[in-house]
Amino acid sequence: MKVAIIGQGYVGLTISAFAGEFLEVVGFDNNKKIVNQLNAGISHIEGVESSVLQKWIKAGRYLATASGSDIADVDLVVIAVPTPLNKDRQPDLTYIDAACRTIGENVKTPVLVINESTSFPGTLRNYIKPAIEKYSTSAVEHLYAISPERVDPGRVDYNQKNTPRLYAGLTAEATEKTREFYSRFCDELVEVSSPEVAEAAKLFENTFRQVNIALVNEFAQITNALGISVHETLDAANTKPYGFMKFTPSAGVGGHCIPVDPTYLATKAEELGTPATFIRHANEVNTSMARYVIERVIQDNGGNLAGKNVLIVGVAYKPNVADVRETAAELVIEHCRANGAVVTWHDDLVQNWNGESSQDLSGADITIVLTKHDSVSAERIKKSAPYVFDTTGKVEGVTAF
Ligand SMILES: NC(=O)c1ccc[n+]([C@@H]2O[C@H](COP(=O)([O-])OP(=O)(O)OC[C@H]3O[C@@H](n4cnc5c(N)ncnc54)[C@H](O)[C@@H]3O)[C@@H](O)[C@H]2O)c1
Repeated sequence: MKVAIIGQGYVGLTISAFAGEFLEVVGFDNNKKIVNQLNAGISHIEGVESSVLQKWIKAGRYLATASGSDIADVDLVVIAVPTPLNKDRQPDLTYIDAACRTIGENVKTPVLVINESTSFPGTLRNYIKPAIEKYSTSAVEHLYAISPERVDPGRVDYNQKNTPRLYAGLTAEATEKTREFYSRFCDELVEVSSPEVAEAAKLFENTFRQVNIALVNEFAQITNALGISVHETLDAANTKPYGFMKFTPSAGVGGHCIPVDPTYLATKAEELGTPATFIRHANEVNTSMARYVIERVIQDNGGNLAGKNVLIVGVAYKPNVADVRETAAELVIEHCRANGAVVTWHDDLVQNWNGESSQDLSGADITIVLTKHDSVSAERIKKSAPYVFDTTGKVEGVTAF
């Protein structure tokens, strides 16, 4: 069996590495630099070992390509391209559309098309299938299914094998073939009654996180007003063995999922005339955290930041990954600069970002910890400035929420 995986990023490359053990994989990506790097056996994604890629390349079971003709003879296509928000913070399906064009123009025999990209309910039925048919140069009837991706980059306890996977096809045959495909490398498959259920479940999983993070972010402001520690209070609540799940406050949410996916659900809901008040409010609370943090820092530092050297520790959106998509650091830095601070940042994993590079972890007036990678010790952070504000709850003995 030969499989094309469209998009070789966090999701697509992770799937390619798993599938390579059993199948011949063509990793299609329109970024030629990534393609060349992958064909040289170098992985750009945490959690995908270069050695694994090299093994599949040597065995003739992995080829990266930017050429559509290389996917002409596959049996199955997986779509794993970005589904971000556009500049108006609306769902942006242009990458999905481009992937559909690649499939339509190049795959001329019937295959199973599985979408793993996250999008609103109805995307497979009302968008992907018609788009592929529109771009197809010959009348070909593909099968269509959805299996939303749940990978959590950087996580070691759950992976493609032991994370249960939802799936559903537009037809019974598509559902069955999807089950056969994933059962090669996934232990637990959960069939649902329609693609829309799978699509909505994926969005609700991330909305659950987004809303609970907003709740704990608001709670951090309440505990501060009460003069008690949010972390001690959360730990106390977390001793209840049922009905409680601990989330921790932060300077905001980042990454491709939590700040983005709930808006896909809200947009669809509002299109149907149903309000999505929790989602919209949670977005506002999470976005306001950057300003809240800076207000706290200003309050503790004589009422202004003008001319002060502020060092941001960790610009990746979460620990131990180099991913800066939608990172809260962007807003925090913007607020610092708007208040006259001279801002630098330190991040061992990111190194270069927004035309700036990682600076030494020392010599600042004020350090604000946004993300603490394991490679950075709390001791080094504490020595970097006379005043440290920690938003992570991982640096003891400094100012925190
Ligand atoms: N990263 C995660 O943790 C995660 C988890 C679950 C679901 N998802 C979802 O999976 C999808 C992919 O996310 P990702 O994190 O892998 O994105 P990514 O940005 O890491 O990778 C996407 C890749 O697709 C390529 N690409 C873009 N347009 C293309 C096209 N038209 N043809 C071929 N390649 C193209 C890009 O060059 C990039 O390499 C999104 O819908 C996302 O919401 C992501």
